[in-house]
Order: sequence, then C-alpha cells, then structure tokens
Amino acid sequence: MENDVIKLRKLEPRDFNDVLEYMSDPITMTYFVEGIYNEERVNKFLNPDKEQEHFGIILKKENKVIGHIDLHDWFMKDTYEIGWMLNSNYFNQGYGFMAAKLVLDYAFNKLKAHRVIATCQPENIASKRICEKLGMRLEGLFKKCIYNQRDDNWWDELFFAILKDEYYEN
Ligand SMILES: CC(C)(COP(=O)(O)OP(=O)(O)OC[C@H]1O[C@@H](n2cnc3c(N)ncnc32)[C@H](O)[C@@H]1OP(=O)(O)O)[C@@H](O)C(=O)NCCC(=O)NCCS
Repeated sequence: MENDVIKLRKLEPRDFNDVLEYMSDPITMTYFVEGIYNEERVNKFLNPDKEQEHFGIILKKENKVIGHIDLHDWFMKDTYEIGWMLNSNYFNQGYGFMAAKLVLDYAFNKLKAHRVIATCQPENIASKRICEKLGMRLEGLFKKCIYNQRDDNWWDELFFAILKDEYYEN
C-alpha cells in the first residue's frame, strides 16, 4: 500500500528505534490506557506470538517509520477494527488520514470486509475527524466505559463503523 508520500508495510523488528521514539512519547500515547512503552514492551510489540497486525507508516522523503495503523479481526466474520498512532512530530500534516485511508481501502478491496469499526475518546479531535473523513458513521457514545489507571478516571468512548455498501457509496 502506498501513495506518493507514504508507504505502508508490516512493522518489523528492525523498526525498533523509530517505533520506540513514538511509543515512548507521552503526547502520542495520551489516549492509550496502557501508557508509554519502554524498550522491553516495544520489543514484544514488534515480535508478537501471532501474525503481525501493525502496518508501519513510512514517510518516503525521510525513509522513517512515523507511526502505524492497526487492522485486526473484530469478533464477527469479515469485521475489522482499525486504529492509528503517529509520532507527534508529524501530527496535523495529513499523514494520519492518508495512511488510514490506504488501510481502509485495503480492508474493503483486498480483504473484502463487511464492516470496519473504530473507537476514540470524544476529546481526541484528530482521531474523531479521521473517522468522519473516512466516511464512518457514529454509532454510539459509551459513557465511562474505559478505566484509566494512570489518572484513576473513567473515559467515554465514541464508536464509529462503516459497512461495505457505505464504503462503495462514498
Ligand atoms: C489521531 C492521529 C493519528 C491523527 O493523525 P494526523 O496526521 O495528526 O491527522 P491529519 O493531519 O491527517 O488530520 C486529520 C483531521 O484532523 C484534524 N486535526 C489534526 N490534528 C488536530 C488537532 N490537534 N486539533 C483539531 N483538529 C486536528 C485535521 O485538521 C484534519 O481534519 P480536516 O481535514 O477537516 O482539516 C494523530 O493525532 C495521533 O497519532 N494521535 C496520537 C495517537 C492517537 O490518539 N491515536 C488514536 C487513538 S483512538
């Protein structure tokens, strides 16, 4: 998957330094309850027991992994969850949407998905906006459904989805 600006491929152990750079960054990890990753966790993340589900986003002009998009099975047949994470030095330059769109196209055109879902906190404006720009429908707001140990607080969550028919209508 690629366009003129970015290329996506499965993350590999050789991406360690680039991935550590953003997964150890409190800004990038603000909305992840597991908090920032240290070297050991990144190592495990890049060497999973099952097949790799993380698509690294390579910025062509720097040949650098600036983030990744997750795409994994989500409970029901032909149903996937999509998620995104970027190095904060590269926020708000269009890369997140660009990468998410490439993976959404892959899910429907190559994997023949029936439905793709995504979730984010209501305060995560950029993530919510990516869902909207992908043509995803807001299906609900789950109140205080995620416990964040770091601030002993319950987070709300928005739930978005897009069906195959809706994808091809857009
Ligand atoms: C969410 C994330 C991937 C967005 O990627 P990005 O490359 O910064 O976003 P883009 O530049 O593609 O912008 C997408 C849209 O969000 C808007 N946006 C981006 N950053 C924004 C900000 N800080 N405030 C308001 N809007 C913002 C953009 O303007 C654009 O909308 P528009 O086309 O209507 O103008 C990135 O912010 C990130 O990695 N955040 C940390 C990890 C994270 O929270 N992941 C999601 C967990 S649910």
